[in-house]
Amino acid sequence: MKFDTPATTNPIDRLTVVGKPLDRVDGPLKTTGTAPYANDRHDVVANQAHGYVLGSAIAKGRIGAMDLRAAKAAAGVIAIVTAENAGKLGQGKFNTARLLAGPDIQHYHQAIAVVVAETFEQARAAAHLIRVDYAAAEGTFDLAAAKDSATKPAKMTGDAKPDTSVGDFAAAFAAAPVKLDMTYTTPDQSHAMMEPHASIAAWEGDRLMVWSANQMIDWSRGDIALTLGIPKDKVRLVSPYIGGGFGGKLFVRADALLAALGARAAGRPVRVSLPRPLIFNNTTHRPATIQRIRIGTTGDGAITAIGHESWSGDLPDGEPEVAVMQTRLLYAGANRLTAMRLAVLDLPEGNAMRAPGEASGMMALEIAMDEMAERLGLDPVEFRIRNDSQVDPENPGRPFSQRRLVECLRAGAARFGWDRRQARAGANRDGGWLIGQGVAAAFRNNLVMKSAARVRLDGRSKVTVETDMTDIGTGSYTIIAQTAAEMMGVPIEHVSVRLGDSRFPVSCGSGGQWGGNSSTSGVYAACAKLREAVARRIGADPANIEFTAGHVSWAGRSVPLGEAVGAQGLEAEDAVEFGDLDKEYQQSTFGAHFVEVGVDAATGEVRVRRMLAVCAAGRILNPKTARSQVIGAMTMGVGAALMEDLVVDRRRGFFVNHDLAGYEVPVHADIPEQEVIFLDEVDPTSSPMKAKGVGELGICGVAAAVANAIHNATGVRVRDYPITLDKLI
Ligand code: MOS
Repeated sequence: MKFDTPATTNPIDRLTVVGKPLDRVDGPLKTTGTAPYANDRHDVVANQAHGYVLGSAIAKGRIGAMDLRAAKAAAGVIAIVTAENAGKLGQGKFNTARLLAGPDIQHYHQAIAVVVAETFEQARAAAHLIRVDYAAAEGTFDLAAAKDSATKPAKMTGDAKPDTSVGDFAAAFAAAPVKLDMTYTTPDQSHAMMEPHASIAAWEGDRLMVWSANQMIDWSRGDIALTLGIPKDKVRLVSPYIGGGFGGKLFVRADALLAALGARAAGRPVRVSLPRPLIFNNTTHRPATIQRIRIGTTGDGAITAIGHESWSGDLPDGEPEVAVMQTRLLYAGANRLTAMRLAVLDLPEGNAMRAPGEASGMMALEIAMDEMAERLGLDPVEFRIRNDSQVDPENPGRPFSQRRLVECLRAGAARFGWDRRQARAGANRDGGWLIGQGVAAAFRNNLVMKSAARVRLDGRSKVTVETDMTDIGTGSYTIIAQTAAEMMGVPIEHVSVRLGDSRFPVSCGSGGQWGGNSSTSGVYAACAKLREAVARRIGADPANIEFTAGHVSWAGRSVPLGEAVGAQGLEAEDAVEFGDLDKEYQQSTFGAHFVEVGVDAATGEVRVRRMLAVCAAGRILNPKTARSQVIGAMTMGVGAALMEDLVVDRRRGFFVNHDLAGYEVPVHADIPEQEVIFLDEVDPTSSPMKAKGVGELGICGVAAAVANAIHNATGVRVRDYPITLDKLI
């Protein structure tokens, strides 16, 4: 079905199953350790051998020679694949760096070999017997030093523009009576998801089967085929359970390719998982940014000029971190300027991590807004409210489909007790702790993607949904089951959901917080078609038929669904395709984050005391799984504020802290009270589900709210993340 006019009333609006805070349907599998994650698939194929990936020990240069003799002779070794013996490899659409390097090296820990052996330990031991002679070249590893060499990016995801300009920013900024011109930095960050990248590959003739931890089945299936130079329809990719992705598993990584190459060389199925210390440099990361923000206002706090420039780095042919996107849309102001500049860095590939662009951009913009409020002597909630815009500020003819930022701020302030906050920094103490409160807006765009599904109804009224959608821990299984149950009028226990297999219809996949809304809309479309098919089979008027309580009712009759379709059942497949509604209306999600911190007056140690998020993100399909998304994102925001920092070795060009001991993320003790409020909202322009996304909205603004709370507690304004205690004393 084509979705190109705002949704009207439909069966989802009954909200008998959709919109309920149901437990995850896959919860028992996960809590009993029986959900089949890629690296646990000992069962799926016999005779598995183990592959161990060797990463480059230099960041840039060439391999002069590789001596494989000792490794080949080592116990248990079956095959060793390098760029020299792998055959010709193509380049996937979604990878900047090659997944198997040689002789040229593009970044540290870029894979240069996979050793296949009978056991993991044998493969690992043999990999360390490979002798590699490198000719290292000078690389560029320091964003601050490379900033002046940065240029306008040659390519950008989607049709994003590197620069925008409205009115006369320079003149308006110069003339503004109150202004701010400040630079903020965000560090490189790692997804650091719990489950490592892992794949098992098996060949059957010219057909390749890959079990992998992957967010986007169809993209990745295509890229595996492209890289190996085989037809896409010869590849089957399966990824039913994923232990966290955050964007790090959007694309094919070295584990999948090297499992496939290793399996071909070994003539046996091969499993490859990336050991934790390899992940940080071998895969992708969120690139560091330098952001300059200029804001000019009238004396009473109306923005007249707003400028946001961002610098980031990536490998040659890479893309920038799009940290200015939210500034194009968030606040009013007649004179505007945004720009992104990209430096060439020889660090590992930069790529999407949870709310790419907005997460980093809001870290800077929302401190700048706090600083401006302070200069104006305005409450930071009030300053934001004064600069709300119900239309796209760069294109005033284009309205937001829904924009309830002001309600989020007001509801949050009331709930949080914002009126008890002391405006003066350092005015609030609790024993040895300085107490402060901070606020930030949350903003993330609402993207929509084509998504297909197949739905089957059997003679016992049981419904089976199949789509290649993935569940990265987000709750896809559950909201898809809820959608099918609502549409077909059956209890949720009668729905089974099968995901993450390229044999199923192509979905939107999990990314960019589009997954929940788009994938359920695809299921909606398939169910709508199935309802019509049921009507045809029983000879009912499709406009006067009801699906309720496992029964279909029409013209005064009511029979169990299974009986209506008969023993052979019925099946329907359809996709939702989105027209231009998301261009006609600016579709975004909004929120407000409130944070209270305590800062130890003697040591500068920061403890988050309580957090509140208010979100306006369309219909919430399941408040329990949506809340989990938001509190997870808030937790990640605390990590971004206080801990996360991939430290660059600027001489040798690698991320130093490449394990979970050195790369700090919050633990339970770091995260106390979290509260999430969803405003009651439906957005009929976003999809037939009238929903949007929250998984990325939840992180956007959190780090700035923490930074602003720290400033409120201490009077110290830190503009370089993470805010570690050395920056406070
Ligand atoms: Mo997301 S960073 O598109 O998984």
